[in-house]
Amino acid sequence: MALSVKHLLGIKYLSLEDILLILETAENFKEVINRPIKRVPSLRDITIANLFFENSTRTRLSFELAEKRLGADILNFTASASSVTKGETLVDTVNNILSMKVDMLVMRHPNPGAAIFLSNHVSANIVNAGDGTHEHPTQALLDAFTIREKLGEIKGKKIAIIGDISHSRVALSNIFCLQKLGAEVMVCGPTTLIPKHMASLGVRVTHNLREALNWCDVANVLRIQLERQDIKYFPSLREYIMLFGINKAIIDSLDHEIVILHPGPINRGVEITSDVADSSQSVILDQVENGVAIRMAVLYLLAGKVSS
Ligand code: NCD
Repeated sequence: MALSVKHLLGIKYLSLEDILLILETAENFKEVINRPIKRVPSLRDITIANLFFENSTRTRLSFELAEKRLGADILNFTASASSVTKGETLVDTVNNILSMKVDMLVMRHPNPGAAIFLSNHVSANIVNAGDGTHEHPTQALLDAFTIREKLGEIKGKKIAIIGDISHSRVALSNIFCLQKLGAEVMVCGPTTLIPKHMASLGVRVTHNLREALNWCDVANVLRIQLERQDIKYFPSLREYIMLFGINKAIIDSLDHEIVILHPGPINRGVEITSDVADSSQSVILDQVENGVAIRMAVLYLLAGKVSS
């Protein structure tokens, strides 16, 4: 089995078969990374450059570990410490890196569409590790993997994505991924943080947190992406917390138990309180663990497409 794509630019470009193949491959890799010997040398002859033009903790470390577990050679590039600050263009920077015989690129970039743009200009296989407010495909895949692991299957499940939908790449990738897998999706947040076109994607929209939590099997809680907000989208943080903050009292008042996801980084006491984030209903650290397996699967499957 092979992927239908040469790059992972977004979930939008994957078929259901592609998604299922990645999830199944990740299951095998999860088993591998839980063994005493955690490495498989599948990417021994592959060189991967990690290009991070934006801050990252989880995603960068997770990709790096996935590459190491697969035995790849790795180059790490951080924009703030590079010639980008001297005015070099993205294509020039990347072409210089590629002339050192690099096969694959993992890129995080603040501009939406940066990975798609690059895929039109260079020959290497590209994995989008988050492009501005657009897509974050490996996050959506690891979220789907974690939900599947917890609930058995995704088809027919109800998933509420709660918080700053407008500025979140995690939201869009999750919507595409969960819908392809047959889930029903609802978004919940302040009117100003939910794009007007949301309903046209076939998702339910609510501005009432209790309604979203009562409806869903799974709540994926997002951070307010202040670094991407140009204006003030809600009157005060205190008001946001009162209307959209997830706390123990509201979770305990539901008539059924829900699974709680968060892509991190968490702002404790803002979108979620510590007692909920650290509760047995939360799968936040499972998401991080599963992220390595998902990224191993993506890199392994795309490596089969090197120079094709
Ligand atoms: C997310 C991101 O960077 O898009 N985090 C992540 O990759 N784990 C979400 C966020 O920054 O809030």
